Amino acid sequence: MKTLVIGPGGREHALALALSRDPQVTEVHVAPGNPGVEPFATRHEVDALDGDAVTSLATSLGVDLVVIGPEAPLVAGVADAVRAAGVAVFGPSREAAQLEGSKAFAKQVMASAEVPTALAHVCETAEQVEAALDAFGPPYVVKDDALAAGKGVVVTEDRQVAIDHAAGCDRVVIEEFLDGPEVSLFAITDGETVLPLQPAQDFKRIFDGDEGPNTGGMGAYTPLDWAPEGLVAEVTRRVLVPTVQEMARRGAPFQGLLYAGLALTSRGVRVVEFNARFGDPETQALLAVLRTPISALLHGAATGELASVGLPQWSDGIGVTVVMASAGYPESSSSGDVILGVDAANAIEGVDVIHAGTARDADGRLVTAGGRVLAVTAVGETLEHARDRAYAGVDAISFEGAQHRADIALAAQLGDVTVP
Ligand code: AMP
Ligand code: GLY
Repeated sequence: MKTLVIGPGGREHALALALSRDPQVTEVHVAPGNPGVEPFATRHEVDALDGDAVTSLATSLGVDLVVIGPEAPLVAGVADAVRAAGVAVFGPSREAAQLEGSKAFAKQVMASAEVPTALAHVCETAEQVEAALDAFGPPYVVKDDALAAGKGVVVTEDRQVAIDHAAGCDRVVIEEFLDGPEVSLFAITDGETVLPLQPAQDFKRIFDGDEGPNTGGMGAYTPLDWAPEGLVAEVTRRVLVPTVQEMARRGAPFQGLLYAGLALTSRGVRVVEFNARFGDPETQALLAVLRTPISALLHGAATGELASVGLPQWSDGIGVTVVMASAGYPESSSSGDVILGVDAANAIEGVDVIHAGTARDADGRLVTAGGRVLAVTAVGETLEHARDRAYAGVDAISFEGAQHRADIALAAQLGDVTVP
């Protein structure tokens, strides 16, 4: 099978790497990709938001499967263009991607499908915002309705901070605060069959101890030994299947990766958000321990034949990924800082350094090129083992202003995660 992965980041590097290790896959192309994929894939220039450009690249390469990584091309309808040309594509249509593209739309779908989620008000005026904030009380949760790369959400005790964030958005969703640990549960679906992956946990805040602003994600691990028994079955039954059925009922079948961001609250499981694509960096940790050949899952979803693939199988290992971000992230980022030590980190047993915001400078040196730069991903026999390896990788790498969290998966290792 010849494959083409669309996107520039860590999730796309992880997907391309898994495809390159799949015996069914003969060629891996990535557009635009990053320097990290160069050892095993061919890179191509493309405007990932241009459906015609992606389609003509796919047909000229004669690929059997296109995998669209990020949300922006999905929301722009790139999957529709590729599918219309008769090429199998993993990723939802423009309409179905609204599950991620509009938080208000996602809330409507959840209401119709009776999926448990936070109570919410959609607000378009300052008066509506203040009324909604006062209806729920602190902590305040204010979400930009539009795509914001994981950074459009403010959770704060400070009413003025909440009002100021809302003022910077056209339309906001204000919702009740959800207590309890967060879980990312992904499902691969062809629009009918729903295959859940194992649960993962992401670390959204920039600083240790979940302090500071939200980011795109600073680290992840999987599986979660503290997750309640039956969690996957419950979320499949109450969240994933009803959502996929509701999308089909609306004439917008969802095909691709349905990402359920969940909170395990004192009142039960609640959906925090849906995404319409693989999460980043959970995907780096998940694919490190996935045993089922990834091409079977992605191609099965793209062609409506997922029922014949069967539930994903996992290795006994634990996957941990630690993101290294550049100076200034998440408010800004720093480009052009020379990165040293990636080969040394990759040489550690069980470690893969997944690139996100990296580039080559004029002298061919690896440099930073964005906020999240690398995701140092490790597999171990235990959580402690996997963390030790991932942090040994992080310690081997250096660049000016590098930031990482030191506590990825630490609470789980110490047995300190509790579900209220
Ligand atoms: P979202 O983009 O909707 O996933 O929100 C980003 C992050 O904000 C989530 O991962 C949570 O950490 C936090 N968050 C979002 N909604 C809520 C909520 N209702 N209660 C508590 N935290 C939330
Ligand atoms: N891990 C968060 C996201 O992909 O949105």
